[in-house]
Amino acid sequence: MLCLQGTDAGGHRGTHLAEIEPNGSGWRDLLSEVLNTTDLPVVVAGGVMTAQDVKDALAAGAVAVQCGSAFLLTDESGMNDAYRAGFTASDLTETVVTRAFSGRPARAIRNEFVARFDPVAVPVYPIVNQLTKPLRAAGAATSDRELVSLWAGTGWRHAQSGPAADVVAALAAEVAERRLEGP
Ligand SMILES: Cc1cc2nc3c(=O)[nH]c(=O)nc-3n(C[C@H](O)[C@H](O)[C@H](O)COP(=O)(O)O)c2cc1C
Repeated sequence: MLCLQGTDAGGHRGTHLAEIEPNGSGWRDLLSEVLNTTDLPVVVAGGVMTAQDVKDALAAGAVAVQCGSAFLLTDESGMNDAYRAGFTASDLTETVVTRAFSGRPARAIRNEFVARFDPVAVPVYPIVNQLTKPLRAAGAATSDRELVSLWAGTGWRHAQSGPAADVVAALAAEVAERRLEGP
């Protein structure tokens, strides 16, 4: 199968070469294009945060969805305090695709690290990643949300806390209902 990652995805974009700019299309735009070129089952990722998103993805021809940001606040998440503080902050209001942390394009919530280093970031992976490591470690050690990579997809505000199983159940709610209704 293929996993199709749209631009809304949190974390690193699935580019093979660090210097390549990833496209700016969401899975909704990409899916029909990809289904036209392959018979393989396609999984979509990037900004899938609600039961409606899951329903839309399956209706559009995906066999499954892949979610990341939707699980970051769950009990099972390994998020540290700095990351959690930034991820839940009401005054940090946008995500951006930036090379500031690693040299590779990745989507994160805009904090001071992004504001300062995005304008000068160079597409040199993994060197940028190594250079920024001590800063990010210091941010994690001091619970400073401004110094860590706040990986998040564009739908991060929809992330729910509680057991991951509850998040799965909520995401699958529309699909389960449809199955129960039967033919
Ligand atoms: C905290 C975090 C870490 C991630 N790490 C990786 C990774 O190491 N390798 C990878 O291929 N994708 C990684 N991703 C991207 C996910 O595989 C997936 O494409 C993305 O989470 C989907 O978008 P969503 O976050 O809006 O659900 C990561 C995403 C997040 C949020």
